[in-house]
Amino acid sequence: MARKKIALIGAGNIGGTLAHLAALKSLGDIVLFDVVEGVPQGKALDLTQCAPVEGFDAKIIGTNDYADIAGADVIIVTAGVARKPGMSRDDLLGINLKVMKSVGEGIKANAPDAFVICITNPLDAMVWALREFSGLPAEKVVGMAGVLDSSRFSAFLAEEFQVSIKDVTSFVLGGHGDTMVPVIEYSTVSGIPVPDLIKMGRSTQEKIDAIIKRTRGGGGEIVALLKTGSAFYAPATSAISMAESYLYDQKRVLPAAVNLTGQYGVDNLYVGVPVVIGAGGVEQIVEIALSDEAKANLDVSVEAVKELLVACKAIDPSLN
Ligand code: APR
Repeated sequence: MARKKIALIGAGNIGGTLAHLAALKSLGDIVLFDVVEGVPQGKALDLTQCAPVEGFDAKIIGTNDYADIAGADVIIVTAGVARKPGMSRDDLLGINLKVMKSVGEGIKANAPDAFVICITNPLDAMVWALREFSGLPAEKVVGMAGVLDSSRFSAFLAEEFQVSIKDVTSFVLGGHGDTMVPVIEYSTVSGIPVPDLIKMGRSTQEKIDAIIKRTRGGGGEIVALLKTGSAFYAPATSAISMAESYLYDQKRVLPAAVNLTGQYGVDNLYVGVPVVIGAGGVEQIVEIALSDEAKANLDVSVEAVKELLVACKAIDPSLN
């Protein structure tokens, strides 16, 4: 069987980390694309020189030509500008919308059968625009945010409860931004929901509220520390888990930004919800019962995403 092909659009911090992870995991041959000449080629060469030590056979090339992504099975998009300190994800909107247009057209012309995972921020608006520009079916275009947000939430919960990260499951819905909705009723330690753990005296509501706040600002906390860019290890790891679920038809239940068609009372909008990812792309959208509070928070998050789309349509009238 021919090796799978993974195309990474954007060869910056996340793109390079994605390429490294995909090579180490032997997911397939890798094409690193960027508009900057030399960077994807240099990173590809560096990564190729890992192969003798790590023993992977994947071929890694760097390119500035979309023709090289032809036939890609999975495409992960990180092209664009990352946040600088003091910049919100939404500040990136105008710049990255133009980038999504060129990426969407490149995908449409060269790899229309791929499963596309978008990471570029502001995520919920960019993944929607990427689908519009690429014309791919909605079940083949998803946004990576929920896996990262819930991973951050889980890491903080494991620290708080002093338990193995392996036993923590956490649940985050909504947009990727300050309005994301960590749902504690569905966040557990070995199946024990966080509210029960609070009742058992293992933590307090105040501490959990502080963790939720830290999770919502998880990206910003890292931007403030790095000063010259945004998080890249955990975003790349998160997207790779989604790519694996597609490539190996794992049918994992993962939170992802997907196009809702009435679920959660939302229509034709990309919002983070639990989905099943398998060989068909987004195979199921899982609609869970939400508490009144979680539903109200989700509504706020949905409104924030809607505002972003209004802004996108004002910038690029072809999106109307
Ligand atoms: N086409 C392809 N690549 C592009 C384009 C374009 N039109 N415009 C910019 N790029 C490339 C840049 O040259 C750069 O190499 O995208 C890459 C982005 O890399 P970084 O600046 O290192 O950003 P990174 O940390 O990888 O984050 C990428 O993901 O999490 C989000 O907010 C983050 O939107 C940002 C994206």
